[in-house]
Amino acid sequence: MDLHDFSDIAENYDYYLNSLGSYSGFEEFYLSLAQKYGEKGIIDIACGTGALTIPLIKQGFDVIAVDLSKAMIDVTNKKLLEQGLSINTITANMTNFSLDRKFSLAIIARGGFMHLTTPVEQRVALLNIKSHLTDDGILTLHTFEPLVEAQYDQIHTSENDFSLRCEYTNKDGKQERIYNAIHYEPKTQIMSGNWRFDTLDDDGNVVSSRIRPLKMRQTYKTEMEYLIELCGFEVIDIFSGFNYQPANGILIWILKKVK
Ligand SMILES: C[S@@+](CC[C@H](N)C(=O)[O-])C[C@H]1O[C@@H](n2cnc3c(N)ncnc32)[C@H](O)[C@@H]1O
Repeated sequence: MDLHDFSDIAENYDYYLNSLGSYSGFEEFYLSLAQKYGEKGIIDIACGTGALTIPLIKQGFDVIAVDLSKAMIDVTNKKLLEQGLSINTITANMTNFSLDRKFSLAIIARGGFMHLTTPVEQRVALLNIKSHLTDDGILTLHTFEPLVEAQYDQIHTSENDFSLRCEYTNKDGKQERIYNAIHYEPKTQIMSGNWRFDTLDDDGNVVSSRIRPLKMRQTYKTEMEYLIELCGFEVIDIFSGFNYQPANGILIWILKKVK
């Protein structure tokens, strides 16, 4: 089980995500890609709780959403139903989903690709996604580069060296603090994280605590460039943020299928 397979995580994801980081420009960035490339259909891969699926559908795009976690898909479906939107979601792995159609745009937003923890899985996923793209179809995905400054601490972090990430109000209106302990393994480039969610009472005392695991793989920029070429894509653009910042550490790749 990984973080997003737990229903308590899926149900709280929308409540804590914006406290974890700044995602300014997120929706606009992908809507602009959708306008440019999404005419023949969009597949939202690792869609999570539909942060993108829903705005894309509302803008009139033809969207199918895929996620490995049934818990996350359940939340997306509930939101689609509540908003009277049609449900086109599939619980499946990006390495082997199989659909009888092609799309002009595939989106893996916010870290979904990093959940693939081996180069083999990454390659299989890229090839599978490519087989679902039209000629000249576009794929966008995120990666983190291993940065020496961050890794030094994480190499020495044990599974119980928790740091506070944020405090937020959960779906039941209770305050929760999120801590994580991330260990980085240079040989595999995998970040193994323990995420701890402490629920507080009105006086700020911890009344319950749950720990959930999360593994993600970091990739070097050059490694990605070779993988992209190997899988029959070419790089159109790379940014570091949704406001089109130049590439640095966090990379948002815009790729075109070439063969
Ligand atoms: C960080 S969340 C991002 C969700 C969404 N794209 C967003 O931006 O809010 C990552 C998602 O990737 C999904 N995921 C992880 N591995 C996957 C795989 N192999 N195939 C499909 N989805 C996967 C997880 O279940 C989780 O919902």
